[in-house]
Amino acid sequence: MNVLVIGSGGREHALAWKIAQSPLVEKVYGAPGNPGIDRLEKGACINVGVNDFEALDTYIEAEGIDLTVVGPEVPLVHGIVDFLEERGKRVFGPSKKAAQLEGSKSFAKEFMARHGIPTAESRTFDDLQEALAYVRSQPAPIVIKADGLAAGKGVTVAVSQAEAEAAIYAAMAEGAFGEAGARVVVEEYLTGEEASILAFCDGRTVKPLASSQDHKPVGENDEGPNTGGMGAYSPAPVVTDALMEEIVWDVLVPTSAGMAKEGTPYKGILYAGLMITENGPKVIEYNVRFGDPETQAILPRMETDLVPALLACCNGTLDSCEIRYSPRPCVSVVMASEGYPGVYAKAKEITGVDEAEALEDVAVFAAGVKRKGDQLFSSGGRVLNVTALGNTQRAAMEKAYQAVSCIHFEGAFYRRDIGAKALKHLE
Ligand code: AMP
Ligand code: GLY
Repeated sequence: MNVLVIGSGGREHALAWKIAQSPLVEKVYGAPGNPGIDRLEKGACINVGVNDFEALDTYIEAEGIDLTVVGPEVPLVHGIVDFLEERGKRVFGPSKKAAQLEGSKSFAKEFMARHGIPTAESRTFDDLQEALAYVRSQPAPIVIKADGLAAGKGVTVAVSQAEAEAAIYAAMAEGAFGEAGARVVVEEYLTGEEASILAFCDGRTVKPLASSQDHKPVGENDEGPNTGGMGAYSPAPVVTDALMEEIVWDVLVPTSAGMAKEGTPYKGILYAGLMITENGPKVIEYNVRFGDPETQAILPRMETDLVPALLACCNGTLDSCEIRYSPRPCVSVVMASEGYPGVYAKAKEITGVDEAEALEDVAVFAAGVKRKGDQLFSSGGRVLNVTALGNTQRAAMEKAYQAVSCIHFEGAFYRRDIGAKALKHLE
């Protein structure tokens, strides 16, 4: 069969890389894809954007694509799954209504309240003055969230009331996030360690993937502004077997059951971003897709074929699908462009990827990369996801950083502590 992966980042390269390992698959396309996907033996890229539904449908038809996997949230929230399914295509991902779990934070909060799913206390505001008055009555720190999609930039963890007021003002009065910020959710500040739990869903059955943890702040020890994610590792030892059970029964199952009950069954990947608090796991956010960069650290550990799991989610047969992971930890380090997450440098030549990939247990996923002839150039803030498996967490970290040291581009930087939180639990 032929598979199409929609998107162009490291997550999509990792998906295509894993999909290409399936004996069921003849060809895997990326739309628009990236040089990492193009370079796969079974890989190819088609020059269509992720939001051009008509053109994507035309390609799916023309290339005889049997399964389409949607990477990013924007086309999901805009209804790409409904659009393609109406045209008879098989698509991995939630419907437009189900994608509201990520597309609207207030929807997600109300949904969790209806179904008793543990999350931070919150209030939703459409009126600037009411929002300002509310935060003035609350202690800091407090969390301000733009309701809609804001490319990961819509959340402010305000350490003072002045900062909270500024965040509300930016979203609601200055239009910093456009329409997405016209409504804001003001949320109780939670403390604890974060973990990402992704689950396959087919509308009825829920099967969690291996646990993982992202590193959102740009700097070591979680300092500096938030990014799209500076690295990830899997498994996350903070998620013990007992805690995973709790997450399955208190979060994932009620989410899937609640969506089904409300007439919007959830199919695809359900991503629960969790804070592991003293009072147990609480949902910080839902995402309706594979995490980036968590996927890059999870898929190398998946021993079973990914394609049957994707098909089972589409076909409603997930209960009989076996999914196994290697016990070996995986660490994925993001190499980023100078200036990221602010304005960053671009078009810097990248060398050493082949040397890094020649190391055993190493994969380098292209995130923000363009190719000209045989040369690779940076084209995004997050450029590469340098990923390694190891027999121990420490060995995986050492291997990943050994691979990082092979790769060069002007202004490249990375966090040197990806995976260190796992060591604290293990040692
Ligand atoms: P999000 O974009 O929703 O993932 O939020 C970005 C980051 O903000 C999260 O990864 C958390 O580190 C932080 N965050 C969001 N909500 C809360 C909360 N209620 N309490 C503490 N930190 C939060
Ligand atoms: N790693 C966070 C996200 O995928 O949104």
